[in-house]
Amino acid sequence: MKRIRKAIFPVAGLGTRFLPATKATPKEMLPIVDKPLIQFAVEEAIEAGLTDMIFVTGRTKRAIEDHFDKAYELETELAAKAKHDLLAVVQSVLPKGISCVYIRQAEPLGLGHAVGCARDVVDDEPFAVVLADDLIDAAPGALKQMVDCAHRHNGSVLGVEDVPRARTRQYGIVSATPVAGRTERVAAIVEKPDPAVAPSTLAVVGRYILSPRVFALIDQVTPGAGGELQLTDAISALLAEEPVFAHRFAGVRYDCGSKLGYMKAMVEFGSKHHEIGAEFAAYLAQRGR
Ligand code: UTP
Repeated sequence: MKRIRKAIFPVAGLGTRFLPATKATPKEMLPIVDKPLIQFAVEEAIEAGLTDMIFVTGRTKRAIEDHFDKAYELETELAAKAKHDLLAVVQSVLPKGISCVYIRQAEPLGLGHAVGCARDVVDDEPFAVVLADDLIDAAPGALKQMVDCAHRHNGSVLGVEDVPRARTRQYGIVSATPVAGRTERVAAIVEKPDPAVAPSTLAVVGRYILSPRVFALIDQVTPGAGGELQLTDAISALLAEEPVFAHRFAGVRYDCGSKLGYMKAMVEFGSKHHEIGAEFAAYLAQRGR
């Protein structure tokens, strides 16, 4: 498999579960303590060795573009006030050698459509897809584990974890057979199956390493409910042509697209935050008494 350099971040969803916070701001800009979800996702991609960050944006795109842009005024102000620590924080948002591209998805026609919008920029290379609202606490990062898996087994890789059977309707679910360690070979994938008919409880969460062949297959997918083009349907077609693996990454995932998951992440990351962690943990302990 060719080197994986490019990551697609689909950030054009409506984020209705977080209204009104997401009325004018993408949900991927919601912070966990002081860092936006999208920055966690970009840092995970950089750690995995990726250099080209491709954002598929929607109506409220400006905040994300501004976040990864150089902030001359702010940097000048922080330098003048000798706030060197904060200056370093601002300057490290996008390290040298990392480039960003923004593509507009005119209408939120589904994750498959969003990924398809990046076709011309990705071209003929394997690539990653990262959904920033799935925040994964892992060392090494989930994407790094998956890139290693893709190279080891020479195929596409889906990040997966076991979910309660009652929840299969929220995920793409795979049936798979063991290969080695945490990796399985995917035999089938279905989008949001009813718990009674779900082939397993192994759910795809927001990390993918995909072969560029998937772009042609996205074009052939027929829209499902609500006119949305499902990435799952294109992956299902890919399975018939190329090997696709499921990798049970080591780490803890927080579904920050839901309020409860977001609050859990806030508590866990808050409790180990370098500035406030000890005090916050003490506060929680006192409150629990
Ligand atoms: P979700 O299913 O979580 O939808 O999208 P959503 O619109 O963002 O949020 P809710 O359900 O209304 O609260 C999964 C991911 O796919 C992106 C979203 O930005 C999110 O990262 N997405 C989804 C797109 O970029 N375009 C789409 O057309 C659909």
